[in-house]
Amino acid sequence: MAGLFSCNQKKTAPREAQKTIKPGAERWLDTDGQHINAHGGGIYIEDDTYYWFGEHKIAGEEGNRAMVGVQVYSSKNLTEWTNEGVALAVHGDTKSMLQKGSTIERPKVIYNDKTGKYVMWFHHELKGKGYEAALAGVATADKVTGPYTYLTSRRLHPGVYPKNFTLEQQQLAATALKDTSLKRPELGRVGAYLVRDYEGGQMSRDMTLFKDADGTAYHITASEENQTLHVSELTDDFTKVTDNYVRILPGKRNEAPAVFKKDSTYYLISSGLTGWKPNPARSAKAPTIFGPWEELGNPVRGSEEDLKKTFRSQSTYVIPVLGKQNAFIFMGDRWAPKNPIDGTYVWLPIKFEEENPTLRWLPEWDLSEFD
Ligand code: DGJ
Repeated sequence: MAGLFSCNQKKTAPREAQKTIKPGAERWLDTDGQHINAHGGGIYIEDDTYYWFGEHKIAGEEGNRAMVGVQVYSSKNLTEWTNEGVALAVHGDTKSMLQKGSTIERPKVIYNDKTGKYVMWFHHELKGKGYEAALAGVATADKVTGPYTYLTSRRLHPGVYPKNFTLEQQQLAATALKDTSLKRPELGRVGAYLVRDYEGGQMSRDMTLFKDADGTAYHITASEENQTLHVSELTDDFTKVTDNYVRILPGKRNEAPAVFKKDSTYYLISSGLTGWKPNPARSAKAPTIFGPWEELGNPVRGSEEDLKKTFRSQSTYVIPVLGKQNAFIFMGDRWAPKNPIDGTYVWLPIKFEEENPTLRWLPEWDLSEFD
């Protein structure tokens, strides 16, 4: 598998793959002795195997764009990861929206029982257009590790308002949109960007997927200029959104959403909005995925610095641990935007205190933390 690495991958002499989880360690080695290259990632679990999908990054600032695609690794124990190669490759064809140099972020994969396909969603931005396109990309595969076939990238819900955006709110938001004295947070809170984007479709940036126990799946994304999260039910084949969607935590400026479910409660861990720089994490819980979402504050416990910077990381996913009851792992990125390939990973066990998720620093740990 080593040959599948880009030539920018730092070559190191094969070393033993890791046996413990070392949050923020400079190198997380795979079974080839290479630093794992799967940033902004998510985990898909099948039988006894975890599959880690993430952004493949190369060296230098151009590594913030997709030069290779989405990488996938497999593991049975969450510490020894085998590189399974490129799951979704960028296209050489410069007419393709998925061309090399576009931006692919936060890929997530779920399995569709009806079609027998693996479905990947990701945040997609067009080459040379910064973050303005704000598209949701979709690809499918017959095999978990791919190759994934790119279907499309699009804005979501053109011509459809969220279920919890009343007629009265629509009118207020339309008025606010015309009010030049209002600033972005206020415009975001009242839903002015929903009105602005009604016809062309809603923005979708940082995102995740959540497949519920009944087989229904949801797309959760930072929309409305990153001011408000949207939760959308997916169609039966998981390749589109249905009209069933809501806005949650309006105007709260959440990025990096990670959703999980403990017993019958849904939890959200997310970040604030500071680009690649870390900021205080947030958490929330709800009795249904559509809400109402109750904010629980910063899940981090520790020093002031830990609270301010979430251990110098940003959430990307929460992993349910196989074979352990109510055991969940916070999965975060420690970004390195000047040399993105050097980005590393902060994974910590989630401990519940009075039913609220909390995170404490551990320099090195293993799954016995959950015993
Ligand atoms: C923060 C997001 O969480 C990342 O995925 C990425 O889009 C950066 N912003 C870009 O600045």
